[in-house]
Amino acid sequence: MAVVSLDEQEQQDLQDHFDAVVSRHERIEPRDWMPERYRATLVRQIAQHAHSEIIGMQPEGNWITRAPSLRRKAVLLAKVQDEAGHGLYLYSAAETLGVSRAELTEKLVSGQQKYSSIFNYPTLSYADVGTIGWLVDGAAICNQVPLCRTSYGPYGRAMIRVCKEESFHQRQGYELLMTMMSGTDEQRAMVQESVDRFWWPALMMFGPPDDDSPNTAQSMAWGIKRDTNDELRQKFVDMSVPQAERLGVTFPDPELRWNAERGHHDFGRPDWEEFAAVLRGEGPCNAQRLEHRRRAHDDGAWVREAALAYARRESDALEPAAGEGR
Ligand SMILES: [Fe+2]
Ligand SMILES: [Fe+2]
Repeated sequence: MAVVSLDEQEQQDLQDHFDAVVSRHERIEPRDWMPERYRATLVRQIAQHAHSEIIGMQPEGNWITRAPSLRRKAVLLAKVQDEAGHGLYLYSAAETLGVSRAELTEKLVSGQQKYSSIFNYPTLSYADVGTIGWLVDGAAICNQVPLCRTSYGPYGRAMIRVCKEESFHQRQGYELLMTMMSGTDEQRAMVQESVDRFWWPALMMFGPPDDDSPNTAQSMAWGIKRDTNDELRQKFVDMSVPQAERLGVTFPDPELRWNAERGHHDFGRPDWEEFAAVLRGEGPCNAQRLEHRRRAHDDGAWVREAALAYARRESDALEPAAGEGR
């Protein structure tokens, strides 16, 4: 008869409880036991997500001082500020897993952790503000709506609020493009040129094809992911085609067409070599984005120091140290 030590039995009970919670589609909370690999996967995914929100402020932030009207400036400011908020919710969600925001920021600025490849492309005209809202925030919504049901509680709850704000981002982008499309020929050409540049990188936001995505199966078994990369990409294409028709633009894909048999659009293959190069740091703006983030982090050092000194002083005032004359 096999002798099972109490520790092993306890370990097995914890694992069984975790598996049962996940299979019932309930939430795992910070106080619950979780497998170490589940924790590590979540930290990696949430950190990458948080970094994307923060780095994602740069391409559009680039246009705040050059917005064409006060209204556009107010909209863009609000949008970019929302992205900062998303980053903060997500860093907070990651902190419930035992890593600090300072550690994660360090990993971002030293290049050890990644952010979404899309933010390594430049914003060359004001139409890009609209295209990013429509396609990039639109792709983010496709990715993030299922994450509202992710198995880890703090991540899922952060996503609910993030998704509400993302839908405002998408609408402001689409509305900007609609306005430009009802303007001059030159404005319409700006929109089309911008859509041509962003279409393929937006499709890459869903990650590599399923047969080249080794972590997907495990993430789905754990309830972290709810749909595969290719399923989400298909959903995004199907959603975007009628929107493009309404807008009066085309996507730069000669293979894009409705397939009545499948009930979905067929589409061409994104350039996965380009995707891999951007992930390796060879995209058009990788160096610039990280450099800017590092500089902003260094410039903000005094704010962090002042806030810490103030917090220390406040807590000293509440609990005077023994022997301290007051
Ligand atoms: Fe966001
Ligand atoms: Fe957004």
